Amino acid sequence: MDHNEVPGHLGEDKVTEETKKLISSLPKDKDSQGRRLCKYQGSWYYYNTLQGLINFHNNFQPQETDIILASSPKSGTTWLKALTVALLERSKHHDDHPLLSDNPHAIVPFLENNLYLKSSTPDLTKYSSSSSSSPRVFATHMPLHTLKEGLRGSPCKIVFMCRNAKDALISMWYFICKNQRVEATRSILESLFESLCRGVTFYGPFWDQVLSYWRGSLEDPSRVLFMKYEEMKEEPCVQLKRLAEFLGCPFTEEEEESGAVEKILELCSLRSLSDLEANKSGKTVNGVDHKFFFRKGEVGDWKNHLTPEMERRIDMIIEEKLKGSGLSF
Ligand code: A3P
Repeated sequence: MDHNEVPGHLGEDKVTEETKKLISSLPKDKDSQGRRLCKYQGSWYYYNTLQGLINFHNNFQPQETDIILASSPKSGTTWLKALTVALLERSKHHDDHPLLSDNPHAIVPFLENNLYLKSSTPDLTKYSSSSSSSPRVFATHMPLHTLKEGLRGSPCKIVFMCRNAKDALISMWYFICKNQRVEATRSILESLFESLCRGVTFYGPFWDQVLSYWRGSLEDPSRVLFMKYEEMKEEPCVQLKRLAEFLGCPFTEEEEESGAVEKILELCSLRSLSDLEANKSGKTVNGVDHKFFFRKGEVGDWKNHLTPEMERRIDMIIEEKLKGSGLSF
C-alpha cells in the first residue's frame, strides 16, 4: 500500500463503466492482504487507482515547468517532497514556510492517487507554489512510460527516488500495520515478502518500476534524475546540490557560504519534520495519519527483521532482474 491512500477508502464505486470494461480484459491478482489488483501497462493497481490513472491520462494538462516527483512506495517520497519544496521556496520564506504548517503530502499531492482519484478534472490552481513564477509540483508512483503518456510530450522535469527493496519492505510492513492499527506480526511481513518476490505489489513489480526510471535517466539525463535514498543519507549535501542543479535552481556561491544547503537539510530532516505539529497530528486527504510517514529513516533496518533465507532469496531475484542494466543496490 502506498502512504497516501487506503485502498478501498475511496472505493471502487469511483470506477466508471468504461474502466470496468477495461479491467475485465486485464490480468488480475491479489496483494498480500487479499485486495484486488489489475495489471495495466505492466504495473499492478487497485481498481480505484487505475481509475485515477485513467483520469490523469485523459485530463491532465501539463505545463512545461511542471516538476514530477516519482518514487517507489516507502522509499523516501515524503523526504523528496519536503526537499523539493524547500529548494524551490528557499528565497521566499522565513517564518511562514509552507513546510512548517503543512504535511509534505498536502503540499505536493499525488496525481493518480489523490488529485485524479477524487475527481476526473481536479482544480490544480492551488498547487502552484506561493509565487506564480514557481513551478507546479506533483507526485506519482506510476512507472515512467505510464507517467509520460499523461505528460503528452511536455518537457517536465522528473525526479525519481528509490530505495533498496528490503528496507522499503520493512518500512511498508510497519506502515501498513500502523495504518490498520494491528500488531506488526511475522505473518504479515511474510506475506508482504511473498508478494514482493512474486512482483505482485501495488505499483510493482518493484524492479520494473525502478528500471523504467533508471533507463529513462540514462536516455535523457536532463529530464529524468535518478536518486537513491541510501545516497541521500550517505552524502546529503552532494545529493541536494545535484537535485537543485537538475531543477534549474542551483545554489549560488553566496548561498553555499551562508549555509543554505545545510539549512534545508536540517529543515527537512526526519527529526525536524516529525517534530512539527503539522506532522504530529492530522491526516492526509485519504485518511492516513501524518505521523505514520516518519519512522526510523535508517539504511539497513531490514537486518533486524529478515532471515538469511529471505535475504538470499530477494537478493537473488533483484540481482537477476537488474542484470545488465548497470543499476544495483
Ligand atoms: P522507515 O520506515 O524505514 O523509517 P515514504 O515517504 O516514501 O513513504 O517513505 C517512508 C520512509 O522514509 C520511512 O522509512 C520514513 O521514516 C522515511 N522518512 C520520512 N521522512 C524522512 C526524512 N525527512 N528523512 C529521512 N527519511 C525519512
